[in-house]
Amino acid sequence: MKRLRVAIDGPAGAGKSTVAKRVAQRLGILYVDTGAMYRALTLKVIRNHIDFSDRDMVTDLAERTQILLQNSPSGQLVILDGEDVTEEIRTPSVTRAVSVISAIPGVRKHMVVKQRALASRQGVVMDGRDIGTYVLPDADVKIFLTASLRTRAERRFQDMLEKGYLVTLEEIEEEIRKRDELDSKRDIAPLEQASDAVLIDSTGLSIGQVVERILGICLNYL
Ligand code: C5P
Repeated sequence: MKRLRVAIDGPAGAGKSTVAKRVAQRLGILYVDTGAMYRALTLKVIRNHIDFSDRDMVTDLAERTQILLQNSPSGQLVILDGEDVTEEIRTPSVTRAVSVISAIPGVRKHMVVKQRALASRQGVVMDGRDIGTYVLPDADVKIFLTASLRTRAERRFQDMLEKGYLVTLEEIEEEIRKRDELDSKRDIAPLEQASDAVLIDSTGLSIGQVVERILGICLNYL
């Protein structure tokens, strides 16, 4: 079978990772959550008490960090320098800081090399912000997945409640809005729809419906 490369980009909370994971399972190819890579580095920056504005220090740390994404029956595990940080990278302190760390050019350069290497060896479904525009500009299928800000905030809010966090819907909506703004306005590889990407607005659609639409598009390339 052809090595299919599927890029799924979009703003925070659009459901990219849930959808991308299922699409990858159905196609029998690797799922790569690039956001998890930026989150893992951000966790290490926080743990090392490095000033977020010290771009050289953060870039240097990125170069000395090993981040592995391992597919397991329970989902994708994120391994930071040998430690499983799958849960910890989703905490609010990491979420609040990640867009500042991911805007550092040296950090992006380093991550993109790793992401392209993964996609050069096998078929992938890769989700992120700049996959269709920058990481894999010649991906076979490009999807830009979005939903209204309120819908995205409501989904995230439910996730956070289930995990036991005491937050309000308004706080989550504000956090998502700020993160999207930072991700869209950065100088390097900002969040934007690739000109050849298919736009899917998942407001009012179930996960299953979005997955089927994307698989339908992928079928044309198999
Ligand atoms: O997808 P997720 O919400 O986990 O991504 C966390 C953050 O990582 C994003 O808000 C963005 O700042 C950064 N990111 C990025 N480029 C990617 C994937 C994620 O800058 N390809």
